[in-house]
Amino acid sequence: MKIAVIGGDGTGPEVTNEALKVLAAVAQAESFTYELTDLDWGGQRYLDTGEIIPDGGIETLRAHDAIYLGAVGHPDVTPGVIEKGLLLTLRFQLDQYINLRPVKLYPGVETPLAGKGPDEIDFVVVRENTEDLYAGIGGFLKKGTADEVATQTAIYSRKGCERWLRWAFEYTQKRNNPKGKRLTLVGKTNVLTYGHDLIWRTYQEIAGDYPDVEADYNHVDACCMWFVKNPEYYDVIATTNMFGDIITDLGAMIQGGMGVASGGNINPDPGGTSMYEPMGGSAPKYSGQGVINPIAAIGAMAMLLEHSGQAVAGQRVLNAIQSVTGTKMKSQSAGKMGYSTEQVGDLVCQAL
Ligand code: IPM
Ligand code: MN
Repeated sequence: MKIAVIGGDGTGPEVTNEALKVLAAVAQAESFTYELTDLDWGGQRYLDTGEIIPDGGIETLRAHDAIYLGAVGHPDVTPGVIEKGLLLTLRFQLDQYINLRPVKLYPGVETPLAGKGPDEIDFVVVRENTEDLYAGIGGFLKKGTADEVATQTAIYSRKGCERWLRWAFEYTQKRNNPKGKRLTLVGKTNVLTYGHDLIWRTYQEIAGDYPDVEADYNHVDACCMWFVKNPEYYDVIATTNMFGDIITDLGAMIQGGMGVASGGNINPDPGGTSMYEPMGGSAPKYSGQGVINPIAAIGAMAMLLEHSGQAVAGQRVLNAIQSVTGTKMKSQSAGKMGYSTEQVGDLVCQAL
């Protein structure tokens, strides 16, 4: 397996080190080999060279099976520059049309939801990752005047809906939830009467091919209520790019915070290159102190393995994470774990 590694900025390289340590341990235990390519992309490189992705960079990535990203973002770089120049560029250029975000409360992890535990908080969000308001379509009229008008257009294509929703149904089937297979489409069909109508029609058509999956629907505002009140209702959620961005941060909070939430930007097509990352940012104020939580980063490695042909290894890492959160760590907050960043990585390796 060829993995491109972008440790990135701030605490990104620290958590990446722990994820790579766990990768080495599980590769040995499961007898597979891999090759790493270290890339210095991110805010620091941009400040040093003015370049975010070097010439031929996308081609370099395409030659890999997967990308592992620690975190990018530098306090001296204008917010949005690296996000757009790196993260969004990779999503679009590599056509990573699925953003996969498990919302899983690991044992021993505190949730702000009273009376809910790991049995109640365990669902997955399948966010479309290349269309909607993220397509970058829009413009200004009379910019800078009192009469200024700005547009930002959400686009939805039949092809884009089809590939994302079909993948979500397939994923729900494979996940095979013993409580019943349910895919909840989350949208706003009562207001977005064109775009979400196309999504709705596509969804209903595809649902016919998956009679064993309950094809369910929630409006996005109601979904936010249920996340807090009845998270146990959900199995898999399919949602649009912008709504997915918002509800997955809510999801991250109910699963115990940014220290534990992992995600994948996936191109499931043959030969596609996908990217896995912890959801927390580069947290510059904690960098170099060895206090940041690497669990989300290790969870991202588990996802990388699961989706890159090493599902057994991925599951082993996930089990090891849960044994460490359940029996060792005091908290998931930076500096309060009861262990250093490195020690948490070591504990996961021992549990493996
Ligand atoms: C995410 C992030 C990105 C997004 C930002 C950094 C562009 O918030 O992955 O959810 O909005 O998609
Ligand atoms: Mn987001």
